[in-house]
Order: sequence, then structure tokens, then C-alpha cells
Amino acid sequence: MDYKELILKALQARENAYVPYSNFKVGAAILADNNKIFTGCNIENASFGATNCAERTAIFKAISEGERKLKAIAVVGSFKEFTFPCGICRQVISEFCTEDIKIIIAKNENEYIVKTFEEILPGAFTNKDLEK
Ligand code: THU
Repeated sequence: MDYKELILKALQARENAYVPYSNFKVGAAILADNNKIFTGCNIENASFGATNCAERTAIFKAISEGERKLKAIAVVGSFKEFTFPCGICRQVISEFCTEDIKIIIAKNENEYIVKTFEEILPGAFTNKDLEK
């Protein structure tokens, strides 16, 4: 798996962030099961709660194109520090991730850390919990 390619796509997607309120741009790129890449940026709203994070933009694009399993997601924020997915995005990732999804938290294509899903959302409530 080419982490650098995914990070570069996330950096490109970040350019399109619509952030008039926070001025904090985030980009994300997903590698789906069939090796297709989907990207997303954060999209803010005057009604702040209607804001969509970069990760969910990318995930919803992939799902709406027929994907169901995500093998990796790269996220780039705008600060010097790493930007981790928010709680809502972690929950949305849990719905569609493969068991060994790689969560790539990047500053740029040379500085990144890779986490497992269990590391970012231990004990997640998932669709398995709804099975009788
Ligand atoms: N944001 C993301 O897009 N992804 C994250 O993981 C953290 C937060 C966005 C939402 C909002 O537009 C801005 O960052 C500040 O919270």
C-alpha cells in the first residue's frame, strides 16, 4: 500500500476545503477495497453543526459510488501537530472499515503515523453488536 500517494491525494483535497469559520483546512483520502481512491475536504456551514469533516466527505463519496470496505484513510490537517479524526468520523469509519484498516495521520508525505482502528476507537459499537 502506497501511503505517500494517499497522503498526497489528501493534501490536494485539502485545497478545496470550505472553511470560512474556522479557517482550518483538512483533507482526507481513502483507499477502497477495489484500490480506488476517494478524496474529501471539510465543508463548513453558517449553522456550525451542519459542518462535514474531510473524512466523512471522502467516506460518503466512496459509499455513494458503491464501495463498502475501506482499507486505508489518510488525514491531513493544517497545524504543526497531527490532526486525528474526530469522534463522529471514527464511528463512521467503524461502519465501513476492513479489519486491518490503516489510519494514516499525516503532516506531509514524509511525516506520518499509522494507527489501527482499535487504537483510535477501542471497544467500538458496531453493526456486529446489533446481531442477535
Ligand atoms: N475537521 C475535520 O475535517 N476533520 C477532523 O478530523 C477534525 C475536524 C474540521 C471540521 C471543521 O471544519 C474544522 O476542522 C475545525 O473543527
